[in-house]
This record gives sequence, C-alpha cells and structure tokens, in this order.
Amino acid sequence: MPELPAGLAVPDGGPLEPGRGAESAGRTFSVYLHVPFCRVRCGYCDFNTYTAAELGGGASQSDFAATAVAGVALAAAELARAGLPSRAVETVFFGGGTPTLLQPSDLARMLDAVRQEWGLAPGAEVTTEANPDSVDAASLAALAAAGFTRISIGMQSAVPHVLATLERTHTPENVPRAVAAARAVGLEVSVDLIYGTPGEDVADWRRSVDAAIALEPDHISAYALGIEEGTRMGARVRRGEIAPTDPDDQAEKYLIADEAFAAAGHRWYEISNWARAGHECRHNLAYWRNEDWWGIGPGAHSHVGGVRFWNVKHPRAYAARLAAGLSPAAGREILSPGEREFERVMLGVRLAEGVAVDGGRAGVVADLVAAGLADPGAAVGGVVVLTRRGRLLADAVTRALTD
Ligand SMILES: C[S@@+](CC[C@H](N)C(=O)[O-])C[C@H]1O[C@@H](n2cnc3c(N)ncnc32)[C@H](O)[C@@H]1O
Ligand code: SF4
Repeated sequence: MPELPAGLAVPDGGPLEPGRGAESAGRTFSVYLHVPFCRVRCGYCDFNTYTAAELGGGASQSDFAATAVAGVALAAAELARAGLPSRAVETVFFGGGTPTLLQPSDLARMLDAVRQEWGLAPGAEVTTEANPDSVDAASLAALAAAGFTRISIGMQSAVPHVLATLERTHTPENVPRAVAAARAVGLEVSVDLIYGTPGEDVADWRRSVDAAIALEPDHISAYALGIEEGTRMGARVRRGEIAPTDPDDQAEKYLIADEAFAAAGHRWYEISNWARAGHECRHNLAYWRNEDWWGIGPGAHSHVGGVRFWNVKHPRAYAARLAAGLSPAAGREILSPGEREFERVMLGVRLAEGVAVDGGRAGVVADLVAAGLADPGAAVGGVVVLTRRGRLLADAVTRALTD
C-alpha cells in the first residue's frame, strides 16, 4: 500500500485552526467514510484495506462502527471549534475496502451519526460501494431503509478468465443478481469496470461493456487497470508471469467503451465516468469541483476550509487516537495560490463541463483546439472541454494550461 504523504505536522488542537471560515464560503459539504476491510485482497489492489488475517489486534470489524461514530463526533467538534459554518451534508460516500462486509445496521449507525451531527440536505445522495458477492436482497433492503440512495457495484469484468486474473471472489452471475436486488429496493445503481487486464483481448472487453450496458445501470465507471508496486499483480508482472498493461490497448478500449456507452444513453461527464442525465455521482463531482469534504476512517483524506489533511493509516492507530480523544489527522497541507490553480485545472479539465481559463492562455487554448484536443465551441467562451482524443491526453493538456 502506498504511504501517506509526509505533509506538515498537525497542530495539537486539530487540523483546522480558527479563522478558516472564509475559505469554505460558497462550498458545499460532503462526508466520506472509509471502511478498511475486505474478505480477500484482490491481486491488483493497493487501497488501504485489510483482510482479517492482515488486521492484527487493536482494531476489529465489529468495533469499527463505534470508532467511526466517534470520528464523526470529533470532526463536528473540530469544525465548530474552528468557527466553520455548520452545513447540511449534500453527499455521503461509504468507500473501501468493502463497506458492505459490515452489517447493514453498522452502516446505518454511521450514517445516523452524520445525520445527527450535521443533518442531511434535502435530496442528499448517500452511496455505498459494494462487491457483487457482499450484498443480498435483505441487506440492500436494510440499507435503503436506513437512507442509502445509491450503490456502486464492483463488476470489473463479465469474463471469467479476466476476473480470475484480477483475483476477484465474485462470478459474472453475481452482478445481475446484485443489480436487480438493488433496483428492487429503489437504489440508484452504478457499476465499475476495469480495462486492460493482462490477457483481456478486445472481444473480452466488448463483452464486459455490453454486459454492463445490458444491466441498464444509472451510472458506469471504467478505469484503466494500474499495476501498482507492492501488489501481487505487480510481482507477477516483474517475474514475467503476466504481461504489463499496454497504453495503446487501454486507449483502444477506452474509445470502445465511450462509443458504446454514449450509444446506450450514458453521457461522459468525467473522463472515467458516464451516466444517464441526472444520475452523475454528486459526491465525486464535489471532489472534482474542489468543494469541502470531511474524510472519516483510517487513511481518509479531507479538504475543508482550504486545508487538505489525512488520517493515520492503520485501523489500530485510528482507533487508538479516537479512544484517547485525539484528532486522527496525521498530516496536512495548505496549498499556495499557484498549487490551487494547478489543482483547479487538473481536476476541472477532466469534466465534460470543462474548466475556465483566463484570457492570457488564449494562445495555448487555440493550439489545443488546432491539435484536436479541445472543443472549439467551448474555447470561444474561454472554457476548455476535452475532445474524445483530448481525454486520452488529459495530463498533457493540464501541463500545457499550467506551464
Ligand atoms: C477500492 S474499490 C472499492 C469497492 C469494492 N471493494 C470493489 O472492489 O468493488 C473501488 C474501485 O477501485 C478499483 N481499483 C482498485 N485498484 C485498482 C487498480 N489498480 N487499477 C484500476 N482500478 C482499481 C476497484 O476495482 C473498484 O472498482
Ligand atoms: S475488494 Fe475492492 S477494495 Fe478490496 S481488495 Fe478488491 S478491489 Fe481492493
């Protein structure tokens, strides 16, 4: 798992000193809850998550909801102490790990704590991630009754040999079952796909794309597989047992997905995300638009009042900090105006709504249009919206706009 950034030390009183209210003016407020448990670790995944065998003592799945509830209470107290306005929560996202490894009553308890401390805004979006084999009709009904509105299901592929290479525990058949059960209780449904797995050919990928569309989800995410240092898959690639990912293959698969999703009525709204109109993930949009969010749980990151901070990484350290009444924040960063501008462009350029750039960059924008990377119509108004080709080269576009 990658280490957290070093960052600046967190003041004794917590990550936010008084007087940061102005930085939050006009920003919406969201909450992320990180649930760091998985039944089995997939070979490609380096997220901050632990199997029962990896966890060790000092923290447990059964204690986690109580610890997270304490985290929510402490966060609310810190916000109040720093004099930030109390804002109702627009979006809540339970991510992981596998949040649905916990009992629905535990997830409901954590959501209740958010509701109690800050209140949920009318129409708030409340999502949980789930593995296809970690939910059933009863657990989904309990989540819907508790106030969840949306589920994001890790489908990854519809092809057995690809799921096997990814070391997923679920079968292709688990996915339509989970989707149907979620829809039956009124949840919005998103599915995640991964493309470019070693051994996946173009026909395999088309099969996964078609299977995802056939589920008629509200939202689809598709991510290029990243082969991460320190994972089992990374070691297998280094030993030559499986091939590394190929950027050309991944670009071809991106274009196949984008065309098929668009034809099925799913509009891209962020490079890796497509949705039916009105079903964009508001929580992820809050990240990309640089709104405020508070991250609860081990290793979770926050962005509040112009400060970025992140929690201690191990569940045991997180539980110990909260048990002692201490902030779980391990480090923080206060961005300079230049760094903020870079972030605004880097995140905003990924969105179909585009990013506004100042008139001084008109020459660069004209070059991007001439190169077929930016949409000419939007550019007239000083907004950079990537073309399909531009989406494959978003990092280069960010560099050009911020040099
Ligand atoms: C961290 S998972 C959490 C949700 C759930 N545990 C699952 O696996 O579906 C969120 C998404 O990140 C994706 N992911 C994790 N590691 C990745 C990698 N190395 N490359 C691309 N996607 C990755 C997962 O496949 C999943 O769809
Ligand atoms: S189930 Fe999800 S979070 Fe857990 S190891 Fe697999 S990809 Fe990572």
